[in-house]
Amino acid sequence: MEKVKVAVLHGPNLNLLGEREPNVYGSKSLDEINALLKALAEEIGAELKIVQSNHEGTLVDAIHELRHWADAIVINPGAFTHYSIALRDALAAVGLPVVEVHLSNIYAREEFRRHSVIAPITVGQICGFGFESYLLGLRAAVKIARERKKG
Ligand code: DQA
Repeated sequence: MEKVKVAVLHGPNLNLLGEREPNVYGSKSLDEINALLKALAEEIGAELKIVQSNHEGTLVDAIHELRHWADAIVINPGAFTHYSIALRDALAAVGLPVVEVHLSNIYAREEFRRHSVIAPITVGQICGFGFESYLLGLRAAVKIARERKKG
């Protein structure tokens, strides 16, 4: 089966996973999560590009570049979820299917986390399953990309 190309984008502060509020975000480091993503990608026939940045503009630039490569995007926008119209516009501009993921259940947390400006332009959102949210997100993105390729 032809490989589908999926970009996984991690937003701000996710480089500190493992040491950052482990009671909320779990004990796995970003490298460990990326290794699990790569193993799953191998198993289900996906090629991955993984980007982490703490900077909004860097993520916007990465999304623009990905439009020539990716079939789908999995993104944990971190705090940008709640206010970055620039990130939302970039994702909408490239027209790729987007799956939004969060480790924590943002709807069970502080009021300011309960709104995502990204969600309306995504295919769907997966949150609250810890690192498994990423794995579920990758499965969803691969499925959507395959369906799109079939036409
Ligand atoms: C997060 C939730 C956001 O509210 C927070 O700012 C993060 C991580 C999550 O994965 O649960 O940085 O996106």
